[in-house]
Amino acid sequence: MTEQGHEDLRQMAVDHFWLPFHQMQDFADSPNSLRIYESGEGCWLKDIEGRRIFDMMSGMWLQAVGYGRKEIADAVYEAMQGITSNPWGGSNPNTIRLSAKIASLAPDKGSRVFLTNGGAESNEVAIKIAKKYHRIRGEEGRYKVISRAGSYHGGTHATMAAGGGGIAAPGDYGPLQPGNIHVTQPNEYRCALCAENGSCTLDCAREVEQVIEKEGPETVAAFIGEPMSITGGVYCPHDDYWPSIREICDRYGVLMILDEVVTGYGRTGKWFASMHWDVQPDITTMAKQLSSGYLPAAGAIVRKDVADTFLGGEDEKFRHLYTYGGHPIAAAAALANLKIIEDENLVENSAEMGQYLFERLQVLHRHPFVGDIRGGKGLFAAVELVKDRETKERFPAAMGIGDMITDLLDTHDLLTRADNVIPILPPLITTSDDVDFIVEGIDRALSNFASNL
Ligand SMILES: Cc1ncc(COP(=O)(O)O)c(C=O)c1O
Repeated sequence: MTEQGHEDLRQMAVDHFWLPFHQMQDFADSPNSLRIYESGEGCWLKDIEGRRIFDMMSGMWLQAVGYGRKEIADAVYEAMQGITSNPWGGSNPNTIRLSAKIASLAPDKGSRVFLTNGGAESNEVAIKIAKKYHRIRGEEGRYKVISRAGSYHGGTHATMAAGGGGIAAPGDYGPLQPGNIHVTQPNEYRCALCAENGSCTLDCAREVEQVIEKEGPETVAAFIGEPMSITGGVYCPHDDYWPSIREICDRYGVLMILDEVVTGYGRTGKWFASMHWDVQPDITTMAKQLSSGYLPAAGAIVRKDVADTFLGGEDEKFRHLYTYGGHPIAAAAALANLKIIEDENLVENSAEMGQYLFERLQVLHRHPFVGDIRGGKGLFAAVELVKDRETKERFPAAMGIGDMITDLLDTHDLLTRADNVIPILPPLITTSDDVDFIVEGIDRALSNFASNL
């Protein structure tokens, strides 16, 4: 594309394009600040000016197999010559095969899979399945959903209400949908409940039980949480947290939904993060790495005993539909993507490289403003920056360190979205050379940051 072509494209963006979570005025003021990518290869992206950058956030937590995989393009091309949407009342071989493949990888191999187009839709479906499940069983009073404050479960109204704040900015849209109760997010670095204690007391898990008791178990439908929270600050809870939540949910007849939209398909070094604790969720939601983002593919994996409740007659039907859910072409892309993950042992690579990344990141403690380094379970790591390591005081928001760090990392060819936490979730094909490149780039960016302070 010529330089004039680039300029025309930027002008079209300024006039007509709306980039999520961004202020379009910034691009009107500075059209060149909008990155326009035209291709990718492996972990690297290339923009229209030909500049390459290493994608440390995996296209936003979804790239397992890397960019430019011809195998997926070929599978999509072939599928496009067959059935290209799902006619009413029927399906197609790829969508059925994908459902069976997902069940074969899931914690419960007898699961049934409801396919959607994205993470928010999957969580909506999971919540609706949970509510209807109780109704079928004659417990019509169960409609409340317990979730952790500061989570992100999607941008629709119901999932925003479940997220309970944070980046979905529910304050912009009036009152949240009622029936959502928010409990404390596990956070071993800054725990609001037991930070002073020296070690985890699992009070955050006990809080779930207290809330169920207070609300009345007969009113609670489900508990939803990310097994390892990305939005909460890239946290992995104490090893006893999820087994405790499972036990509490069982005791009170509450369905446990794990949002594995980010953590599913190898991100944490297991096919699903729940497998780290040998915990069987009632419903697992998924998206992102299911297709590595080549086409929108997502869904809810429902444990057999829960799904079987919906077998019966008219009253037991799940009356819910997305026109594009389980799209045949997206299913073909997802099947090809899962084949690459298996053939190239990318789940194992995530575990191994995640461990190496976590070890290499320790060098960053030499910067006095590095407060915490989290990781060790797959390619899911983070570095938290603080003004004072002793007190864990954060840098003042007015300093805008997120933008500063993001820009400095960019100068070292690393793409991510930092705030006081730098998330590090590179594609699952990451090699040890890539890890060295990442750590050296962050190290240099933090040295630049120190000299700017
Ligand atoms: C944990 C989690 N759940 C749900 C979602 C929503 O997914 P989507 O944007 O595909 O609707 C996201 C998106 O990043 C997420 O991180």
